[in-house]
Amino acid sequence: EKGGYDTFMEKEIHEQPHAVGDTLLGRTDEDGHLVLDELRISEQQLKDIDRITIVACGTAAYAGMVAKYAIEHWTRIPVEVALAHEFRYCEPIVSERTLVVSISQSGETMDTLMAVKHARDLGALTVSVCNTHGSTIPRESDAVLYTHAGPEIAVASTKAFLAQITACYVLGLYLAQLRGGSYADDAAAVLKELHQVPGKIEQLLGSMGRVREIARFMADTRSVLFLGRHVGYPVAMEGALKLKELAYIHAEGFAAGELKHGPIALIEPGQPVFIVVPGPDTPHGLHGKVVSNIQEIRARGARTLVIAQEGDTAVEPFADEIIRVPATSPMLAPLLTVVPLQVFALHLSTAKGLDVDQPRNLAKSVTVE
Ligand code: F6R
Repeated sequence: EKGGYDTFMEKEIHEQPHAVGDTLLGRTDEDGHLVLDELRISEQQLKDIDRITIVACGTAAYAGMVAKYAIEHWTRIPVEVALAHEFRYCEPIVSERTLVVSISQSGETMDTLMAVKHARDLGALTVSVCNTHGSTIPRESDAVLYTHAGPEIAVASTKAFLAQITACYVLGLYLAQLRGGSYADDAAAVLKELHQVPGKIEQLLGSMGRVREIARFMADTRSVLFLGRHVGYPVAMEGALKLKELAYIHAEGFAAGELKHGPIALIEPGQPVFIVVPGPDTPHGLHGKVVSNIQEIRARGARTLVIAQEGDTAVEPFADEIIRVPATSPMLAPLLTVVPLQVFALHLSTAKGLDVDQPRNLAKSVTVE
């Protein structure tokens, strides 16, 4: 049942090209336009949306954070991400023109369910991004956009995360398509590129040998930091969460720009730091800014574990290790950059002799508040 892998998590990591590909499947017509009749929300209603709030917990909330950057960029509709358990208690501002998107693998997370009900009571339009057919959250929502990751058995989420990001991209690109004009043209170009991502994940999974070695040598590590910027910021958070859950190692993710506002004080000789580097063509010179961050922490003795696109030579002088990912456009990068971090957590957990699929104190779906 583990398909030749030692753990469900390893199997699920390797199913990620399919999780992304299957979530795209059947959602375009022959001209390459997105068709989301399954949403059963009128085009007019979707066109009238003036604000989006994403509600989710844990890894699903990180998918939501990635989605915020992408959907705002593609549609210019303001997107807010709220942890579902905070949403209900912060007097959320929603109207009938607010689209509340919940993200949940299980469809049973109580906090997320209660947030959806609350949003509906306030008159918002609710869409569920969910991996489990017939589960509670989709039933309690106005519409559902299923992720097609297949059943996720390992407690720590991997393939569902990639499928959630993909479904959010599909939603954002669809809204851009509805806006027409240059929004639609740009969306069509991104969609084309998105279809190439499963092949790139496959290629990346074939080159994880060094990540495994690095993890094995780090079994005694007590703390690991993760830095990212732009869409790499939620990826850094997710990398840290995977390590906490699976290897019980203290881990923290930061936005790289925050470093000098405090966290750089944590850097001491030998401190391992993963850095998720934006592609060189990321707007606003963010690539160069992150390269400077790497330089700064390395000068203070950090051991820099750099995740960078193929062909990015600028990182080389400051990297103790470089983990290469295939090149893609900036918004789509998380589908690739998170993979080495998942693989790292998996192998570090294994190196420590821990139960990868069933980490202590955790349940696959959290049905209590
Ligand atoms: C982390 C993880 C959790 C879930 C969270 C939400 O690996 O699995 O953080 O992402 O509990 O679960 P769902 O998506 O089922 O609502």
